[in-house]
Amino acid sequence: MADNEEHDAIDDLLLEQRKFAPTDSFKKQTLIAGTHLYDEANQDYEAFWARQADELVSWDTKWNRICEWELPYSKWFVGGRLNVSYNCLDRHVLAGKGDKVAFYFEGEPGDTRTITYSDLLGEVQKFSNVLKSLGVVKGDRVNIYLPMIPEAAVAMLACARIGAAHSVVFGGFSAQALADRINDAEAKVLITADGGWRRGDVFPLKQQADEAVATTPTIEHVVVVRRGNNAVTMKPGRDHWYHDLMVAADPVCVAEPMDSEQLLFLLYTSGTTGKPKGIMHTTGGYLTHVSYTHKYVFDLHPEKDIFWCTADVGWITGHSYIVYGPLANGATQVMYEGVPNFPANDRMWQIIEKYKVTIFYTAPTAIRTYMKWGTEAPGKHDLSSLRLLGSVGEPINPEAWMWYREHIGSNKCPIVDTWWQTETGGIMISPLPGATTLKPGSATFALPGIGAEVVDDAGVTVLKGGGYLTLTHPWPGMLRGIWGDAERYQETYWSRFAGRYFAGDGAKLDDEGYLWLLGRVDDVMNVSGHRISTTEVESALVSHPSVAEAAVVGANDSTTGQAIIAYVTLVTGKEVDEQVLRNHVATEIGAIAKPKTIYFTPDLPKTRSGKIMRRLLRDVAEGRNLGDTTTLADANVVLELQKRIADAPSED
Ligand code: PRX
Repeated sequence: MADNEEHDAIDDLLLEQRKFAPTDSFKKQTLIAGTHLYDEANQDYEAFWARQADELVSWDTKWNRICEWELPYSKWFVGGRLNVSYNCLDRHVLAGKGDKVAFYFEGEPGDTRTITYSDLLGEVQKFSNVLKSLGVVKGDRVNIYLPMIPEAAVAMLACARIGAAHSVVFGGFSAQALADRINDAEAKVLITADGGWRRGDVFPLKQQADEAVATTPTIEHVVVVRRGNNAVTMKPGRDHWYHDLMVAADPVCVAEPMDSEQLLFLLYTSGTTGKPKGIMHTTGGYLTHVSYTHKYVFDLHPEKDIFWCTADVGWITGHSYIVYGPLANGATQVMYEGVPNFPANDRMWQIIEKYKVTIFYTAPTAIRTYMKWGTEAPGKHDLSSLRLLGSVGEPINPEAWMWYREHIGSNKCPIVDTWWQTETGGIMISPLPGATTLKPGSATFALPGIGAEVVDDAGVTVLKGGGYLTLTHPWPGMLRGIWGDAERYQETYWSRFAGRYFAGDGAKLDDEGYLWLLGRVDDVMNVSGHRISTTEVESALVSHPSVAEAAVVGANDSTTGQAIIAYVTLVTGKEVDEQVLRNHVATEIGAIAKPKTIYFTPDLPKTRSGKIMRRLLRDVAEGRNLGDTTTLADANVVLELQKRIADAPSED
């Protein structure tokens, strides 16, 4: 890789020498202590996945072909039929585990609900009938825009039960972002809530939904869950209270077997253009992948473990490791609605103590935030129930890894750093906690059944050193395409390196073959583990009437991984406050996309062919010496910018 910055990162990682082998006590109870899964998968990865599908998933009709691979499209367990909701609910109840707790729900204000597998099955059957009564049929799309409440899981599973595909939109996205996603998916029904709790206040979701639905002609009905008790306007004929519909609903809805390749969901994620991509996931392969990874990466003992994944269901982590993987495996989980510092900085640790959580899965940005808050908060609580920790969403720096190990895991819990993407459906690169010797900051190795390689610019395999992360063969949970855009699917993932899936991440292999993820190599930023494209934010900025031009870069940030820095050129004669523009971006996309800092500049640095030089802007934002500026049309633009930034008041 040409970028100096990436070389610096590689050098830093080379210094990391600490190693942690699985302890004897962990090994004694672990599912996988040796290398046999790797050996088996290396022999024949298709047969390996078929065994997982057989053991972990219940099928109505067995498949007749494990995998059909016609680059870039794969189909898994072809001819097989199954129902995902049956796998997540009915079969556990039928096996006598109806009274097992599926969710301990903890609302932000402190209200709680204990939901067993029987309870959940009952709710899902009723809600499936509600959806049917609203005209939803197999193949339709249903949008979900909810807080982190159990109804989110109910709605997703009800869709799966009747063969409708859900498209969940994170509750922090704006009305505009929701409308764009509904329109792209042409969803028939929207499921939302009056509001949800966040940092002691109710955020008004229904209001955003109303604004969105004003521009979404395909939405026929809106179902509203009561959660915030805030005032809402209900449009007669279109809007319905969830509780009213549920009271009237038939309690029985038999799970209908679906084709293994039936569309299970769409999930929109940022790419390198302004338009989010509707990532398509299907049924049999996806369920196999998430059950397998949830079981072995988290070393799940469903009878003993209390699993807590802190993601929101609006992201892929919530789909795969709150809803589908854990429920298919019959796990007991904690679901928490709110922020980690309400009412105080120790909320997460208090919840771990209260429910005796054994497996905790969170994001590096959260860990770095807890680090900043200090060790007093976790120190106040008994965290001895924990036996395994996980990390996801962005590279975890060795310092945060060590802090997590010491202060949350009492130096005894293994940490699984799991690399994957919305597109991969499930975890791809991760330790197996009872088998892998860990290195702080390394996601270690591709899981059994997954093929990952690092290649150089020319696509040649790198055995040691830095390059681009690629995946070498299909896997069951892989995306089946981008909704409505086959060309973009081919172009984004399959055109950079022949025959390989290009993940968009830089990676490095050390001399023992450990993989170290180095972050995105494209115009996608990773802010607090959330993917946001530079172009998306630029489009939002230039949609403001005072903005002539904008360039956005992700600059290193010690808490959020990257921070959004914008450079804006105003229309001659116009003036606008930085705060107004930040809020404008929040309205267009959502608060997560607000630039941390906006610099106003009369010009942007461009090449002679007119391309904005983002690398230079990143160097400027991170206060680095500038590299080669000879391709610039006007080198003074950058010098001028540097001066302005040096003179600007500091943000921190
Ligand atoms: O850059 C990688 C980073 O997050 C991207 C995927 O983002 P998203 O689709 O939103 O899914 C996030 C949750 C799976 C990747 O391309 N990423 C994810 N996990 C890691 C990571 N980077 C380094 N280490 C990880 N463990």
